[in-house]
Amino acid sequence: PTPVIIDTDPGIDDAVAIALALFSPRLDVRLITTVAGNVGLDKTTLNALRLLTYFERPIPVAQGAPAPLLEPFVDASDIHGKTGMEGFDFPEPDRSLLLKENAIEAMRKEIMDSSEPVTLVTIGPLTNIALLLKVYPEVAKGIGRIAMMGGSTARGNRGVMSEFNIATDPEAAAIVFESGIPIVMAGLDVGLKALVLPEDSAQLPAMGKVGTMTHDLFKKYRGGSFATGLKMYDPCAVACILAPELFEFAETSVEVELAQGPTRGCTVVDLKGYRNRAANASVAVDVDSEGFRAWFLDGMSKCI
Ligand code: BDR
Ligand code: CA
Repeated sequence: PTPVIIDTDPGIDDAVAIALALFSPRLDVRLITTVAGNVGLDKTTLNALRLLTYFERPIPVAQGAPAPLLEPFVDASDIHGKTGMEGFDFPEPDRSLLLKENAIEAMRKEIMDSSEPVTLVTIGPLTNIALLLKVYPEVAKGIGRIAMMGGSTARGNRGVMSEFNIATDPEAAAIVFESGIPIVMAGLDVGLKALVLPEDSAQLPAMGKVGTMTHDLFKKYRGGSFATGLKMYDPCAVACILAPELFEFAETSVEVELAQGPTRGCTVVDLKGYRNRAANASVAVDVDSEGFRAWFLDGMSKCI
């Protein structure tokens, strides 16, 4: 199995992405690192511990950055609820899973100690990854690739042109995109098409603990109705690794707009080569929606 570190801000769709990764026999999730994003850092860390305890998977958790590099921190509790994972009653988290080292130290150790390249799955703002690359540049050669949920080839959900994970910390995202590490980007536009339909949601509770949790978290989040479908943004980053055949990818240049103004935090995905830059990412530009639903349900059925 591929060694994996998941950097996350759980977060409802994060919870689902983590489950799909943990219960895949093809991935070896060695570490979970947390970042401020959907909610503050204390909450995302507590949520990560809650998830791993509930999933019965005692993976170490390391806490990362409490705020973006330059941008003031603004959470998304309007969307993910006060705790970040409203709507499901988790058991008491096993706090012994929390490492004393911070996320940067823990990632460095895991990457340098690994005999194989480690895949980073990033499903939150990129603050921790940027810090890691700046503090310990030697880790870059130990990172096989970064599978990221972030950005958009179209419009945004945080600003007109900016997606939440990138808009929360644009400087960090720019550092990551300029790192030279292979990046697979699943953006907002693809996530919008990775929809779980009502007939799929109806099957979840019978699938076990993880299906029940997914059902209940999304039920609360969607205000009780599954009618318009559930957008599986973060699971797309996992799907890009496990089921790349579901996506159409373009090898292209991605730049992050850092200027103050209406487009700050936009990912400029240069599909037509206007910028005359070498490709620095493999960007998912389309997803097979039917295939994604089948992949999602199959993954859920393999969770506990
Ligand atoms: C991203 O923002 C967060 O709210 C989700 O967890 C996902 O990572 C979608 O824009
Ligand atoms: Ca997330």
